[in-house]
Amino acid sequence: MLKVKLNSQAPEAIETAALVTWAFQGPPAPPNTAGGGEDAERMGDESPALPPEELRLESGLAALDHRSGGRLAELSAAGELTGKAGEALLLHQPPGFKAKRLLLLGAGKPEKFSLHDIRNLTGTAARYLKGRGVSEFTFWFRPLQAGMSAGDAAEAAVEGAALANFDPDRYQTDKKNRKAIESLQLAGLVSDAEQGIRRGLIIAEAQNLTRELVNEPGNRLTPRIFAERAAEAARQAGLSVDILDENRMRELKMGALLSVAQGSAEPPRMVVLTYTPPGWSEASKPVLGFVGKGITFDSGGISIKPGEGMEKMKYDMAGGAAMVGALRAVAELKPGVKVIGVVPLSENLPGSKAQKPGDVQIAMSGKSIEVINTDAEGRLVLADALAYARQLGATHLIDAATLTGAIVVALGGVHAGAFANNQPFLDAFQASARAAGEKFWPMPLDDDYHDNITSDIADIRNTGKGRGGGAINAAMFLKEFVGDTPWIHLDIAGTAWLEEGRPWMAKGPTGICVRTLVHFAEHFGG
Ligand code: BES
Ligand code: MN
Ligand code: ZN
Repeated sequence: MLKVKLNSQAPEAIETAALVTWAFQGPPAPPNTAGGGEDAERMGDESPALPPEELRLESGLAALDHRSGGRLAELSAAGELTGKAGEALLLHQPPGFKAKRLLLLGAGKPEKFSLHDIRNLTGTAARYLKGRGVSEFTFWFRPLQAGMSAGDAAEAAVEGAALANFDPDRYQTDKKNRKAIESLQLAGLVSDAEQGIRRGLIIAEAQNLTRELVNEPGNRLTPRIFAERAAEAARQAGLSVDILDENRMRELKMGALLSVAQGSAEPPRMVVLTYTPPGWSEASKPVLGFVGKGITFDSGGISIKPGEGMEKMKYDMAGGAAMVGALRAVAELKPGVKVIGVVPLSENLPGSKAQKPGDVQIAMSGKSIEVINTDAEGRLVLADALAYARQLGATHLIDAATLTGAIVVALGGVHAGAFANNQPFLDAFQASARAAGEKFWPMPLDDDYHDNITSDIADIRNTGKGRGGGAINAAMFLKEFVGDTPWIHLDIAGTAWLEEGRPWMAKGPTGICVRTLVHFAEHFGG
């Protein structure tokens, strides 16, 4: 785990392997009025060229330039230091500093600078430096923008570094180029940053726990193993844990979940993690239910998927893993609201006992379902998990699931889809998403879509009828199982796995939802 401490020394006095800070992009250079624009250029006017973009040597950075004997102004004039987002400039043995290196990261336009940039800057620094064998650095905050508190800035900085430390390299024996950042110092923050550091570590470690689970291949994370690992992480944090096996599922008549599991030799599980705040009483409201899809491998079942890319379907438990991470952070941060996490776990395989297209299943709620396509299994396991969360007393539900390929088509890898039956509840969730730096796009869920999921022989069918609106049809199906409970469904199929690495984040599992859910639990009053 990353070690973090505050350092109140002046930046030049800090002994560190790398002193890291940001540089803003300056205003565009004024037009060259000396010799008449294009003509002058064509005629080879020799007036000295202005630097393309001038570095704003504002506040601390100007002092830093001065101390380094004008090196930064020189680099700026040469166009090597522009402050553009994504730029990284490393100077060794910077004159006037005790630090061994000075790393300047472009931060774009100052007007747009936010906490999310801070998160990505420390992340970029961490990945840049650990890739070069550096295991410790100091992030120097210069004066913060108005409205940015030291605590929030520290939290974002710590999150960025801790998230950047994660690489999905558990099964690689040669990790010598992947050393981690072991310690981080934060300099230039005045006060109340300690609390931010603590929160940042808790939240990022929870998100990394989620990513670690999502990265696990199907053979090493069956429903039973997922349940054990979730239980272990939860008990350490003081959550209460209940794991339902197939016998209890039968008693509860979870016919939808059991129908998915019947095609596999591996038995299903349902993980229930409960956080109860100090002083909670039965009459206390609200109770949040966090429900996450936990298909540890999705082959499609009898409606089998094409082979190409099927290996990625080990990530079909990303929603469930997000709930485990969120509940662990909640247990450590201790908000005032009760939270119940429910994760239905199963494989979806075409074994000899597998369900078949056309089969009719009776869900725990009593609704009958015609299974048109066994690959639409996520909604089946969630149907019973949502019903169970309500039975356990959840007054508000949020589910997350890698539910449809259609959401990937609709929103790509940037936004997850957010469906809701209650606008104020979704508004509150979106406020948390903005604060946490995660993106969800609102999707429709009106009754006009209901015709898509009616069945000739049962109450509903598990796929839509036409070709369009696949993510909406899936959400409409789930809606059948939440009654009048305020509910949000997050389709994270496009956002749970990063297809290409970023300067601040490894390619692979993202841990989407964890930060927003934790923030939401901390701020939700009903
Ligand atoms: N786990 C998949 C969703 C998925 C598909 C995620 C592709 C990422 C990429 C889900 O269980 C599934 O197979 N959904 C089907 C539903 C269809 C059969 C109605 C889909 O989206 O193709
Ligand atoms: Mn499927
Ligand atoms: Zn699936």
